Amino acid sequence: MKHIDIVEILAHEHMGKEVVVCGWVRSSRDSKNVAFLSLNDGTSLEHLQVVLDKALLGDVSAYLRLGAAVRVEGTVVDSYAKEGGVEINATAVVVVGECPLEYPLQKKRHTLEYLRTMPQLRLRTNTFNAVFRVRSVLAGALHRFFQERRFAYIHTPLITASDCEGAGEMFRVTTHGFQTPYTDEQAYYENDFFGKRAGLSVSGQMEGEVAAMALGKIYTFGPSFRAEKSNTPRHLAEFWHLEPEVAFAELPDIIELAEGMIKYVIAEVMRLCPAELAFFEQHFEKGLHEKLRNIVESDFVVLDYTDAIELLQKADVEWQYPCDWGCDLQTEHERYITEKVYNRPVFVINYPKEIKSFYMKQNADGKTVAATDLLVPGVGEIIGGSEREANLDKLLEAMQVRGMSIDAYGDYLDLRRFGSCPHGGFGLGFDRLVMYVTGISNIRDVLLYPRTVGNLR
Ligand code: 4AD
Ligand code: MG
Repeated sequence: MKHIDIVEILAHEHMGKEVVVCGWVRSSRDSKNVAFLSLNDGTSLEHLQVVLDKALLGDVSAYLRLGAAVRVEGTVVDSYAKEGGVEINATAVVVVGECPLEYPLQKKRHTLEYLRTMPQLRLRTNTFNAVFRVRSVLAGALHRFFQERRFAYIHTPLITASDCEGAGEMFRVTTHGFQTPYTDEQAYYENDFFGKRAGLSVSGQMEGEVAAMALGKIYTFGPSFRAEKSNTPRHLAEFWHLEPEVAFAELPDIIELAEGMIKYVIAEVMRLCPAELAFFEQHFEKGLHEKLRNIVESDFVVLDYTDAIELLQKADVEWQYPCDWGCDLQTEHERYITEKVYNRPVFVINYPKEIKSFYMKQNADGKTVAATDLLVPGVGEIIGGSEREANLDKLLEAMQVRGMSIDAYGDYLDLRRFGSCPHGGFGLGFDRLVMYVTGISNIRDVLLYPRTVGNLR
């Protein structure tokens, strides 16, 4: 069915021409001699008004049904009511798909909670139309950012035998049935599909490092899985993870890359999605434009973990969780630092080694590692990264301290045996970036089908 995207019609590209448009009826109004349809085909946030002349088209009532899919032939003309606007004078209308009156999306504004109960329909609302266009533009901008800088796009496996973050929060992958004849663990895994214990990857970093140690600069972009039972507005069991890895790079290089990337993709969304951002500013976050402009124009803060702890201890706040040196920063701490103290993105660096992963570069002080988390107002951590420990002996020692199996990491350790070099990278929580840019405060509202603990649809 050859037709023209509504976004083109609204951009005045077909003035005076006979066109065909297709879309879903988002609202309608009936008066004496004419009726009006607002049509949306998903290519723009704005709807296209279609004018139905009853003298020409006869009984138009079937065309006015909320949610119906229709095909309209007509002429593109200046809008009668809206200065500078465009509308279509219909010459023929066909109902392609009817929609009964019990269509769950009525004209009123539904809450995001209610819309979560119908993921199959909620994309037909303005909010989700805008979220998903911004999501798509952000993904495209990330690819452009890395491709323009000659990073190779690598596809890392999703099924893995090693837990990258070492925190034991992996989903298991198995073909064993409900009951198996195996009573000991070894036999159980040996007789499974891969002949060993397998899981869904929490990060593409281990394999990303393999690629970076040959191609120099790489990035991965795909799903990662976490079986942590964190029922929060920022945690998913399946999230989209962008992970660059760079050879011959140290922590400051990684920070510079991350800051440049965030600024680039936000500038791209401002350029390509002005209508969507205006919508989010109006309905979800007052001051969104100013926030985004500030991100692009001002420097991010770099704050040593030790200084962050001092800041928190001096704060006139009753913390729910302790904030002594050595403690992991909790959401309340992260938010205080990025929202109350700086009100802009903050890279916290040099964390105590005990609270970070085994692979992070050990600093000369013997206590901290060259790690960084990027904290942003409203969301908290959106990036976690580090320089990697490039020294074989130090890496082995960190693994032994954690009681990790050296055998399981043979490939990874080989990278330190053969031509090891300083290198590092980070992981960006893509869904959290979408939250940050749109002002949507629950991660469940930025994916098609969010997977969270106890929730699989
Ligand atoms: O801080 P994380 O765990 O770091 C890593 O996985 C490293 N291997 C990355 C690297 O250096 N290549 O995860 C990175 C980011 C977090 O900052 C967060 O934004 C996001 O991934 N993330 C989640 N997003 C949604 N739901 C979850 N359960 C997430 N867990 C991590
Ligand atoms: Mg992290």
